Amino acid sequence: MMKNPYLPQRAKIESIRPETRGERAIKTFKLVLADKASQENFVHKSGQCAMVGILGVGESMISISSSPTQKGYLEFSIMKMGKVTSALHNSEVGEVLTIRGPYGNHFPLEEWKNKNIITIGGGIGQAPLRSVINYIQDRRKDYREIDIIYGARSTIDLCYKEELFDLEKRTDIRVHLSIDVEEEGWDKFVGFVPNNLLRIKPSPKNSIAVTCGPPVMIKFVIKSLLDLGFSDHQIYTTVENRMKCGIGKCGRCNVGSFYVCKDGPVFSYETLKQLSEI
Ligand SMILES: Cc1cc2nc3c(=O)[nH]c(=O)nc-3n(C[C@H](O)[C@H](O)[C@H](O)COP(=O)(O)OP(=O)(O)OC[C@H]3O[C@@H](n4cnc5c(N)ncnc54)[C@H](O)[C@@H]3O)c2cc1C
Ligand code: FES
Repeated sequence: MMKNPYLPQRAKIESIRPETRGERAIKTFKLVLADKASQENFVHKSGQCAMVGILGVGESMISISSSPTQKGYLEFSIMKMGKVTSALHNSEVGEVLTIRGPYGNHFPLEEWKNKNIITIGGGIGQAPLRSVINYIQDRRKDYREIDIIYGARSTIDLCYKEELFDLEKRTDIRVHLSIDVEEEGWDKFVGFVPNNLLRIKPSPKNSIAVTCGPPVMIKFVIKSLLDLGFSDHQIYTTVENRMKCGIGKCGRCNVGSFYVCKDGPVFSYETLKQLSEI
């Protein structure tokens, strides 16, 4: 019998890593499904999400920020926004949450083999991109040049700092970090992510650009990519409409005839343009 895709499963918090501080802090939760067989059989792809829930409070759609190549656990990087995410931030290692999913489509990483990959992220938008980056690291020979462009408001808002600083030391991956406003001791780019992209000028030849972040950043990143000569089909992003069921039943997330939870959240700019014309 087919598994009920709406059924939540219990998941234990293995570890919690604070990523950023402040009112809208981000924490990365490492979760393991309580049922060993379910954890072993949990298959996801980069770009997919899951409903992460806390009993008695509710659930939120969150991108799976670990890569499918990282077996035996799932990671979610969660920004404290409201009721559910605040309760998740107050939870502790050993507590049991719920997970249902994985939901949605994914980044077509198989199709992107032998291409240059440019990831362009802002703030918590780096979460689905981290899954892509970790996947590519584990399949490095399958991809050509890799550029990771990531920015946040300030150094304390940069997510995955340690991982990105480690990646900066590699010779086969280029990391370009930025903060919006000057800070003492920061010798990297200061300014908005689309401006950093225009400064780096990645070549569109045999390249795929994938961008996630605040809608205003995505808008200007896409404009910058088009100015650099990228075609619509070379640009990918995610759409994060508010969701409830996650499985294309409630109609909460639809744009025209598309259900973002089922047909997305990953869209090429080619498809996205058609959607915004609806
Ligand atoms: C496909 C998808 C992937 C996502 N991935 C992540 C992720 O990896 N990490 C993460 O921290 N968050 C992610 N989100 C956003 C996350 O689902 C919401 O922030 C969360 O549901 C808020 O729940 P809450 O109960 O804490 O806040 P609420 O009390 O419901 O809302 C608090 C505030 O957040 C705003 N808000 C709630 N949901 C959204 C949304 N989807 N977009 C914009 N504003 C919203 C509300 O308007 C309100 O101002 C994702 C959302 C989607 C649809
Ligand atoms: S969240 Fe219910 S249809 Fe998409």
